[in-house]
Amino acid sequence: MLSFDEHNLTDEVVKRFAECPDPRLKQVIQALVRHAHAFVKEVELTEQEWFTAIQFLTRTGQTCDDKRQEFILLSDVLGVSMLVDAINHRMPDGATESTVLGPFYLGEHRVTPFGADIAGDEPGERLFVEGTVSSPGGVPIAGAAVDIWHSDDDGFYDAQKGLEQPSLRARFITDDQGRFGFRSIVPSSYPIPHDGPVGELLEATKRHPMRPAHIHFKIAAPGHETLVTHLFMPGDPWLESDAVFGVKESLIATLSERQGGTYPDGGAAPATWTHLAHDFGLKPTA
Ligand code: BEZ
Ligand code: FE
Repeated sequence: MLSFDEHNLTDEVVKRFAECPDPRLKQVIQALVRHAHAFVKEVELTEQEWFTAIQFLTRTGQTCDDKRQEFILLSDVLGVSMLVDAINHRMPDGATESTVLGPFYLGEHRVTPFGADIAGDEPGERLFVEGTVSSPGGVPIAGAAVDIWHSDDDGFYDAQKGLEQPSLRARFITDDQGRFGFRSIVPSSYPIPHDGPVGELLEATKRHPMRPAHIHFKIAAPGHETLVTHLFMPGDPWLESDAVFGVKESLIATLSERQGGTYPDGGAAPATWTHLAHDFGLKPTA
């Protein structure tokens, strides 16, 4: 039977993958074919729409280079990144929820001592962050590597400013009680890169590109799953409509406004500053 039509083509394409020796690849590709065909049928895709989609994906690929990953950004705004994250990081009670890594993680950061100021001369509201890392049972994890990075007061990462030295990013190693802490500034909300095909898609569908202000954390310790997460600044106007769907209630930080006095490590504090304390739980590896 050599005549394929809209009624029998899907089954034939699925069958062509039947001899795939890798069972997982077979499962994934056959499901992809079934869902892609069902999508085309559901929307009755026109040839012009099909070609527009091909051109869009071509431009998405052409926008990628060693610094920019437009396909991940596309996955982010379609909610696929957060769905993959959700099904791969089902957390037990006491473990911190995860969220997207984002494009501004530049690999392992320089190790920096407790209390260090990672903001230098950056303008902005002064912030002291302190936290602990523990197992879900509450046992502190000593020696955990805590990488943090966040945007400046104008919503830009150092990677976007072409700075010689890292700024607003560092690695801390937790002490015997699982503690880490640092001085910085309160980050600002910012738009995801929207000068490429993903920006065109957002514009055409009347979606905004904004992410609510947050601090990124990547926390690694032996015997535990590496945690990739953020803490969001409470009250941010974009919390309800994050362009990449990364917000979780449990990740909205508690901030307290302080006046003068000393920082938690005893150092002199400015006239006004903000305190952020948060305890992280890591999921033990199976
Ligand atoms: C970020 O938070 O850095 C980010 C995440 C996803 C897309 C763009 C930026
Ligand atoms: Fe970010």
